[in-house]
Amino acid sequence: MTLVWDTTMSTGIPRIDAQHQELIRKLNGLLHAMQKGRGKEEIEKLLDFLAEYVIKHFSDEEAEMERVNCPAAIANRIAHQHFIKRFTEFRERFKKEGASPRIVIDVQKTLMDWVIMHIRGVDTKLAASVTRKAEART
Ligand SMILES: [Fe+2]
Repeated sequence: MTLVWDTTMSTGIPRIDAQHQELIRKLNGLLHAMQKGRGKEEIEKLLDFLAEYVIKHFSDEEAEMERVNCPAAIANRIAHQHFIKRFTEFRERFKKEGASPRIVIDVQKTLMDWVIMHIRGVDTKLAASVTRKAEART
């Protein structure tokens, strides 16, 4: 399974969309590295990059939501905390289990499915707020 960004994930902010595309690219890379049986060290490096990227992206996106007074801002912040907790647990498990078949399934179910659902369900709420803010200025 390879995730593909499409316009149903558009947030109305090109910088945030580009970050989502990069996030999806990194998740695909992680999944493929596991499926191809890459070494534990290499995968741990990918997980480190991903963790750093996610934290930076979440904080950028939260700032954008606040800037445009998006009604989903609080729900978004809570969802991000929830994801970071899950991701941390996932990394701990990887340290113990390595790329077991169960872990590979979890990359898809726990991480990838979550990210897509979250972008479509919460992050896209940014678009309406961006439009509202732009209209208020004219
Ligand atoms: Fe988000």
